[in-house]
Amino acid sequence: MALSDRLERVNPSEIRKLFDLAQGVEGLISLGIGEPDFDTPEHIKEYAKEALDKGLTHYSPNVGILELREAIAEKLKRDNNIDADPKTQIMITVGANQIILMGLATFLKDNDEVLIPSPMFVSYAPAVLLAGGKPIEVPTYEENEFRLSVDELRKYVTPKTKALIINSPNNPTGAVLTKKDLEEIADFAVEHDLVILSDEVYEYFIYNEAKHYSIASLNGMFDRVITINGFSKTFAMTGWRLGFVVAREDMIEKMTRFQMYNATCPVTFIQYATAKALRDKRSWEAVEEMRKEYDRRRKMVWKRLNEMGLPTVRPKGAFYIFPRIRDTGLTSKEFSELMIKEARVALVPGSAFGKAGEGYVRISYATAYEKLEEAMDRIEKVLKERKLV
Ligand SMILES: Cc1ncc(COP(=O)(O)O)c(C=O)c1O
Repeated sequence: MALSDRLERVNPSEIRKLFDLAQGVEGLISLGIGEPDFDTPEHIKEYAKEALDKGLTHYSPNVGILELREAIAEKLKRDNNIDADPKTQIMITVGANQIILMGLATFLKDNDEVLIPSPMFVSYAPAVLLAGGKPIEVPTYEENEFRLSVDELRKYVTPKTKALIINSPNNPTGAVLTKKDLEEIADFAVEHDLVILSDEVYEYFIYNEAKHYSIASLNGMFDRVITINGFSKTFAMTGWRLGFVVAREDMIEKMTRFQMYNATCPVTFIQYATAKALRDKRSWEAVEEMRKEYDRRRKMVWKRLNEMGLPTVRPKGAFYIFPRIRDTGLTSKEFSELMIKEARVALVPGSAFGKAGEGYVRISYATAYEKLEEAMDRIEKVLKERKLV
């Protein structure tokens, strides 16, 4: 029996392949994982237990429970300057990842083109392909701190372009778009009548003078933006699988239909726990604690990388840093393999994030400070021994 070719178009992630190589390497320090190393705050776990004890163990509405949608609407107003109706413009999902495909499926037609700034999060291009569209990579450059520029977008837009995906703070580069960047991107989207998918899962992990802005909050933009977000990073809840999407009513209605025949609904007791967590100031104190610790690690890793001869842009958000390794003469894959074998440190080759990622590697600093220091020592030693810098 022949299998569908739609899934043939999406390849297993490069990251997985590298992790297979890392398996069994003793004393390995993994800087490859894209998830918080912090535990979910204790009171959120207590809320989940409470919800279980109350018997909240049945299906919820497909769109998610109203209490959580209301708590999200309050947060959107307070932190994002977005006025969304919890009854019609917010949907709860099983993590943010599934929103990319569901969001695209609301409007994309076969062979429509979607612009994606590269380097990019690994799910974007596969989601576009699964939705029947064509992913178009738009490079971002180290010289511009990996921020997307409209000049670059202009080179890739065609009459077939229907959408643009943006991701600020960015995985894998740590880039944060400024308000001016977003205003220019918004004008470009209006000019070409594009839908914008704005992935904001790292919104609370921002450093230096940078500030997070939601493009949906800009004048007149709400109706063409699908805002993607979730609790995996914010509350260190990756394994709980809870996300949310904000969009205009007809899009939410279509996504709810998708969810109805797919996940049915997100886990009910987790939705109750998260609604309470959003309104509990201890959750926001925990976020600030995490943010401060990420910041401390970020500063140290950035300094060490530059000192050892790997030129590195100082990231302004998320928990990734993206050093340039091109000058060593190795490809990003060769560099990552060498580091696994000789430094016993796992990094992700930049090529896993698209064409513009070649020449770089991604380091996640969602790892204990001391381990990061040890990893920096080991990388530096191999670079010196091999005379690569
Ligand atoms: C940019 C970006 N978007 C979305 C996700 C998916 O998050 P979730 O765990 O909510 O599905 C990730 C996870 O790494 C990410 O880095």
